Amino acid sequence: MRGAAGLGPPDIRVWDPLLRITHWSFALLIPAMWWTAENSKWAWHRRIGLVLLGILVFRVLWGILGPETARFASFVKGPRAVVAYLRGELSGAAQMIGHSPVGGLSTVVLLGAMLTQVSMGLFAGDPFDGMTGPLNALVGV
Ligand code: HEM
Repeated sequence: MRGAAGLGPPDIRVWDPLLRITHWSFALLIPAMWWTAENSKWAWHRRIGLVLLGILVFRVLWGILGPETARFASFVKGPRAVVAYLRGELSGAAQMIGHSPVGGLSTVVLLGAMLTQVSMGLFAGDPFDGMTGPLNALVGV
């Protein structure tokens, strides 16, 4: 199919619908996690946190099993490719579809940060004074 006005280059679908839902879920749920903690809405903090964990696990699996642009193998590159891209020396960069090497790196950093935060939340809390994550009983007081 051609571009919006029937002219120009053809439209190319880059991101699949499930990946878009995943991205927007992160954009909505991370502020919700902050807000629920700041306002002591702990039951919601816990519920939304578990939903977020499910979406993160899905994103990791989608990065292995999903379509080309969602797959880590297609966009996670080594430091040489990242540096070459930043210097404008990567051949074919202008025709690249999906994440650039820097975009791929930021994906890994953001997913890693979210997985770390959610994992810590599972164990967080004080059983004698307030709310706890579902795995809190497994760690010492
Ligand atoms: C990206 C995800 C998350 C964000 C941004 C987030 C954010 C926060 C913030 C800002 C606090 C308040 C810290 C303070 O002021 O002392 C907090 C506390 C807490 N969070 Fe989360 N959290 C996340 C995930 C989770 C998850 C998945 C769970 C468990 C299901 C969880 C359980 C808790 C618990 C139990 C506390 C209380 C800790 C305490 O008072 O000792 N969090 N979180």
